[in-house]
Amino acid sequence: MSDSIALWRAEHANFATLLDLLEGELDLFHKGGSPDYELMLNIMFYMTHYPDVLHHLKEDLAFARIKEREVNARPLVDELTEQHAHLKEFGAALVRALDDIVNGSIMAREHVEVPGRAYVAEFRSHMQREETAILPLAAKLLHDRDWAAIDAAIRHIDDPLFGKNGEVRYAALRGQIAREALAPKAITR
Ligand SMILES: [Fe+2]
Ligand SMILES: [Fe+2]
Repeated sequence: MSDSIALWRAEHANFATLLDLLEGELDLFHKGGSPDYELMLNIMFYMTHYPDVLHHLKEDLAFARIKEREVNARPLVDELTEQHAHLKEFGAALVRALDDIVNGSIMAREHVEVPGRAYVAEFRSHMQREETAILPLAAKLLHDRDWAAIDAAIRHIDDPLFGKNGEVRYAALRGQIAREALAPKAITR
């Protein structure tokens, strides 16, 4: 497996961890508990500043190359590209809902729960579709020179949460991720 495909999968695993955390907060909310809005906003800040900005952009460039080489993949690529735009809209809607709650302008729990559940479901199904349908095609059709061209075409940013030089703003979120990783699943929620 090329490094690029391995990195692609690793990023999906990171996003899945964050979606689990987000869902945990929504579950808490649903049961009448007090969710950690700060944590949820930090997760969404990351989602809208790394996956939306770099991961999906890189995928769009990889998809364009796949589409050129495999005519049958065109409908799938169009579907996934469209989902990137939807995820951006869903993410923005969730951030707005969280801001409303934090600012105290809206108190109804459905206000966050509905866009939160929609975001988690849409992101998970998108990654699932990519893992099963497009990653195998990318592994077959894209070579090192393609990945080099893709990397050269985008402005690289280090992953601000999971990267080596993680940003300070995510310190609390990193701590939560580490605690979740150590906690036995049965008693985490
Ligand atoms: Fe994607
Ligand atoms: Fe992806």
